[in-house]
Amino acid sequence: MTHMAEFLVNKEDFRDCRVAEGDSPEPGPGQALLRVDAFGMTSNNVTYAVFGEAMSYWEFFPTEDGWGTLPTWGFAEVERSDAEGVEAGTRLYGYLPSSSHLVVTPAGADESGFVDGSPHKAALPSAYHRYLSAGADPFYRAETEAVQMLLRPLFFTSFLIDDQLDDDGLAARGPVIVSSASSKTSIAAAFLLAQRENVELVGLTSGRSVEFVEGLGIYDRTLSYDAIDSLERGPATYVDVSGDGDVRQAVHTHLGDDLVHSMAVGATHWEEIGAGAGELPGPTPAFFFAPDRVAKRAEDWGRAELESRVAGAWHPFCEWIDGWLETIDGEGFNAVQAAWLDVLEGRVEPKQAHVLSL
Ligand SMILES: NC(=O)c1ccc[n+]([C@@H]2O[C@H](COP(=O)([O-])OP(=O)(O)OC[C@H]3O[C@@H](n4cnc5c(N)ncnc54)[C@H](OP(=O)(O)O)[C@@H]3O)[C@@H](O)[C@H]2O)c1
Repeated sequence: MTHMAEFLVNKEDFRDCRVAEGDSPEPGPGQALLRVDAFGMTSNNVTYAVFGEAMSYWEFFPTEDGWGTLPTWGFAEVERSDAEGVEAGTRLYGYLPSSSHLVVTPAGADESGFVDGSPHKAALPSAYHRYLSAGADPFYRAETEAVQMLLRPLFFTSFLIDDQLDDDGLAARGPVIVSSASSKTSIAAAFLLAQRENVELVGLTSGRSVEFVEGLGIYDRTLSYDAIDSLERGPATYVDVSGDGDVRQAVHTHLGDDLVHSMAVGATHWEEIGAGAGELPGPTPAFFFAPDRVAKRAEDWGRAELESRVAGAWHPFCEWIDGWLETIDGEGFNAVQAAWLDVLEGRVEPKQAHVLSL
């Protein structure tokens, strides 16, 4: 038996968290026990909690009633295995709980990794089922593990946003206005969009982050949320990463029917989702869900081609962000709790991000 720790969040009050400790579960026939080495923590993990019920994120790693294990992205090592084709010692990248261990039921194992065929995950989006073996993963480089944990899923989303804006002809129809421009998802999307010709990018951010966003050099213009009125009138697309109801209302009211498309991507301002009540001028916001777009592009291009295109775009981004991103490492319950509360309250500087381990 190995000692196991789980970081749990009260589903009714995300500021209330605790550790649950005990013996790690034993893998049954056909199962494997993974030891979670480390995981990244950004606003994306807060969004998993905010939509824990509505989008079933709490169901990936079920735990005690009333409490949730946070879904994260990170690296794990196979500690024990009774699954065919899954060797102890294999290093894996995938969707992991904010815990020290996870039991999986590998299916379709080959040199690239496997899919967790645990019955409780069957109805959940398949984008979260795959565990990739570091040895055969085109994204993997030992020296960029921290950036992979923090940014890989966000970058994948950003790649798909860039792809959809181009595919739908939106990137060429007036400026693309991105809220929470200082978030990693927005930064990655802007990094990609800025490489296209004739795309004008406007970053919306909080006053404290205007200088940081300007300094990135990827947005053509940076505005604080209280300067939305100074946006030029005319066709534009809104990419909403903040989820802030007041900001959405202000953008839609200012641009009205000139707004060509409104894409609802994120909810970094998670306590302001319900703000900005009243009729919303312009187009109805369309929810952007990365796993749906993954499914579409996997069908259009094939899964391998999609992975290869994203991996090709990833490495230059990784090198660029590695030049300025500061990772903060933390280990144990106190460090995970402190990081969680800082992310939850929006206290993390945009140039920083947490890599954690229990
Ligand atoms: N739809 C999808 O499929 C999909 C996929 C991936 C990610 N996402 C979403 O994209 C969003 C960005 O995630 P990320 O991990 O890239 O974020 P991140 O880098 O951690 O974002 C940090 C930024 O978010 C804002 N922020 C964070 N917490 C806040 C708080 N409590 N109050 C006010 N502002 C706060 C601040 O930006 P500003 O000051 O600039 O507002 C802050 O600089 C998340 O909501 C995530 O779930 C969606």
